[in-house]
Amino acid sequence: MKDYKALLKENSQEHLLKYIDIANDEQKEELINEIENIDFEQLNRLYKTSKTVGDGAIDACLIEHVKFVDEYSLSDEKYNELKTIGENVIKSGHYAVATMAGGQGTRLGFNGPKGTFLLNIAPKAKYLFEIIADNLKEVNKKFGITLPWYIMTSTENNDSTVEFFKEHNYFEYPKKDIKFFKQGDLPLLDENGKLMINKKFEIREAADGNGSIYSSMKKAGILDDMKDRGVEWIFIGSVDNVLLNMCDPVLVGLTVSDGNEIGSKSIVKNDPKERVGVFCKKNGNPGVIEYSELPEAMAEERDENGELLYGEAHIMCNLYSLGALEKIAGKNLAYHSAHKKANYLDFNGNYITVDEPNAYKYEAFIFDGFEFFDNISVLRGKREIDFAPIKNAEGDNSPATAIELYNSFKNNVK
Ligand code: UD1
Repeated sequence: MKDYKALLKENSQEHLLKYIDIANDEQKEELINEIENIDFEQLNRLYKTSKTVGDGAIDACLIEHVKFVDEYSLSDEKYNELKTIGENVIKSGHYAVATMAGGQGTRLGFNGPKGTFLLNIAPKAKYLFEIIADNLKEVNKKFGITLPWYIMTSTENNDSTVEFFKEHNYFEYPKKDIKFFKQGDLPLLDENGKLMINKKFEIREAADGNGSIYSSMKKAGILDDMKDRGVEWIFIGSVDNVLLNMCDPVLVGLTVSDGNEIGSKSIVKNDPKERVGVFCKKNGNPGVIEYSELPEAMAEERDENGELLYGEAHIMCNLYSLGALEKIAGKNLAYHSAHKKANYLDFNGNYITVDEPNAYKYEAFIFDGFEFFDNISVLRGKREIDFAPIKNAEGDNSPATAIELYNSFKNNVK
């Protein structure tokens, strides 16, 4: 193995030597160990992507409109046929659910894993994880099964998440059927491509995006666990949508009867500026363009009926065959970069708090996994039935809007 000094020199990261000079012995040893384990090739590739995101990345692809099936335009006969196919899969014991809960929830401004946020719904306030657990328990009761539940955490929130479940007795979900697994981390880079140092004299890292789920599932033995349990279809959803339908038989039925390996539920984007990804075909394969990368002109484009051309919103309600997950887990997903504020330690050991973005954060996006398939089944649902996300502290997509949507959904179901 190369000496850390040589590694730093070769990769233009020699500024880290200044931190090694002022760190105490323990910090120094840790930092050197971290440096020796960095994948510098990947780091250099990442820095290059910081320059190619946004409109440029989209320009390079042939983008087309995606086909979808509107759940509410299906005939009763077709609807029931798909529902029966889906229910048979779910109750057969070949179905599992995964929740992505590794995000930081920065926009919500909540200090803790987002799933531990208490939402004041009627008749009793529930934590976001509890809402998910209760929804799964309802399906279990209906079909006399126990769905395996996989939960992705991050380095930052794994311990507190696991502890939270223990404290709440796993919300009475069978403990043996819940498995936690951690996603990965990636270093942040400053605007000159230099590694940054945090308060503890460590290299500043952050969670590597929800697209990490595929390789993390493989690494943590989750895909093997699914195989051992006879799981054939896996639903992957977010932690923050309180109306997320994790066991939608019509989505399962549609995907199975289309002969596809992946499926997803969508809703109509309500405004060109809404912060949701949109389905499309990229160079002939299914994909999603994230809101942060959708050029404004495309976001505003409409068809002859006045509907947004790129208006089929990705609501993180995704279905995969086990084979599909295995396939994606063996591929390298692209990394997307975001310009972010990142506090850091300066060369004198002072912790600098910044007000403006000064660093690039790199993330893999879950939907980039769709591009390895020829087709995806997209089922268009309804916002008031499928989507009540909690993203912001106030205003749109906040706890207040989620409570209103959740309560009104539950009242209508009764
Ligand atoms: C995400 C989608 C967007 C979609 C919107 C719907 C991506 C990249 N974007 O955007 O297309 O329209 O949700 O609500 O998926 N997470 C992790 N690890 C991470 C980052 C996120 O597990 O490193 C999890 C979060 O905990 C959450 C979910 O992924 O459950 C969504 O993450 P978030 O960062 O809030 O996504 P959005 O920007 O809202």
